[in-house]
Amino acid sequence: MNIKISDIACDNIENVVVPVFEDGKSDYICDDVKAVINTLKNKEQFKGKCGEVFFFTKNGENNFKQVILLGLGKEEGLTSEKIRVAYSKALRKAKELKLQDLSVRFFESEKVCRKSRIKAIAEGMALANYAFNNYKSDKKESTIKNINVIGVKDEDKNKVQEGLDEANSLINAIYEARNLVNEPANTIYPETLAKRAEELGKEFGFEVEVFGENKIQELKMEAFMSVAKGSNHEPKLIVMRYFGDKANKDNVIGLVGKGLTYDSGGYSIKPTAGMVSMKTDMAGAAAVIGAMTSISKMDIKANVVAVVAACENLISGAAYKPGDIISSMAGKSIEILNTDAEGRLTLIDAVHYIIEKENATKVVDIATLTGAVVAALGKTVTGVVTNNDEFYSDLESVSKVSGEKVWKFPAFDEYKELIKSDIADLQNLGGKYGGTITAGLFIGEFVQDIPWLHLDIAGTADSNVEKEYLTKGGTGVGVKTLYYLVKKTVECKEKCCCNNK
Ligand code: BES
Ligand code: MG
Ligand code: ZN
Repeated sequence: MNIKISDIACDNIENVVVPVFEDGKSDYICDDVKAVINTLKNKEQFKGKCGEVFFFTKNGENNFKQVILLGLGKEEGLTSEKIRVAYSKALRKAKELKLQDLSVRFFESEKVCRKSRIKAIAEGMALANYAFNNYKSDKKESTIKNINVIGVKDEDKNKVQEGLDEANSLINAIYEARNLVNEPANTIYPETLAKRAEELGKEFGFEVEVFGENKIQELKMEAFMSVAKGSNHEPKLIVMRYFGDKANKDNVIGLVGKGLTYDSGGYSIKPTAGMVSMKTDMAGAAAVIGAMTSISKMDIKANVVAVVAACENLISGAAYKPGDIISSMAGKSIEILNTDAEGRLTLIDAVHYIIEKENATKVVDIATLTGAVVAALGKTVTGVVTNNDEFYSDLESVSKVSGEKVWKFPAFDEYKELIKSDIADLQNLGGKYGGTITAGLFIGEFVQDIPWLHLDIAGTADSNVEKEYLTKGGTGVGVKTLYYLVKKTVECKEKCCCNNK
């Protein structure tokens, strides 16, 4: 979908979305539409509540026009997230009407700055317009092809264009992440995931290096290898580097994404119902790859290295088994109590690697790690474990910009006791309770006290409903949050990125 700022004259517009506040402000709306709104409001047929949609047609001077009125709620309570949600509903209405081109009226408000406003409009519409139909013979689903944003004041055009450029970059990155998650495990396996990262590196200008089994062995990544060895697909360590601040090479943000291109559970095998969706177990990888494309495209002045330890967790004569004791790149020994707790094993070697070999000074890992996070927080909030409150507060503030909700789990020392093994340094299972915390803290054992955030996206990485700007399947969660987190650490220490003004 193509979204651009446009000056088309009112008379030439066929399909238009007109935003309306519940409390009346509508000075930018032409008189005849205003008259319709007033009549509808008097009859209580359309009140302008946030996300409320009303469709009508009218005879234009030259054209037969189709108008979608879109409620924005009370201006006082307007937020970026409300704008995203509202505009996604207008988009869905336009899709239902099988429109191809749509004009969308920009609006004024003191509550959300113009850059955030355009970003929220673009994101809400484009993300709701996403469709994954690579495999449908009959590609029936209608999508909107062009969106023209009209009514942007001349003096605002530069700023609004800047916002739109950033939004378009993030939208593309989220589409990429959703595609990677939605593709099945017979097309996305370590080699093809690595290839896609390489293609994107070329397209967006970041460096990609891919290590195969020999190099992984040489690095002594025994934890990663143990998970990988049950599969015929060779594991790949995908390393992506972007140096946007060469003068400050000792500040490197490390992003680590879980890249299980399939998780059967291994010998601790999953029931079929839980296994079907396990092609999504590389959503963390998809998020870091997507974020790298935007970080690079937007020339963020930061040094970022992203690492994905990509492999499959399967069963074979070579697979690792419950009861095995393995080592890790850091040299700590691990007793395997459950082969389905595999993500943390791949992540600890990736985390150790990114600190030791890529000199990361802060680390964020993002992973579809535990079913327990879904039990605790549901499907709309990402669970976080951290060793650093300041880093967490950065995350909290960018999460308000991205619209991706986060919640911090407690990480008291008592929980660390639960991952100590009787016969090895650690065990890969923390017992029955507090599974998200013990899984996170297992990774925390390998971060060497540098600021670290662990994002468990098992609940938020995919959606089982089509709702607001989410579509069924991969959500692309993490792309925006990682992007803004990287941007915040270098460009907007005070107020976050794109907050007002
Ligand atoms: N990939 C799964 C976690 C998961 C569950 C992701 C549901 C998305 C939806 C992970 O590897 C896993 O199997 N975790 C186990 C851990 C347990 C054995 C300690 C789980 O959550 O059941
Ligand atoms: Mg598993
Ligand atoms: Zn997994």
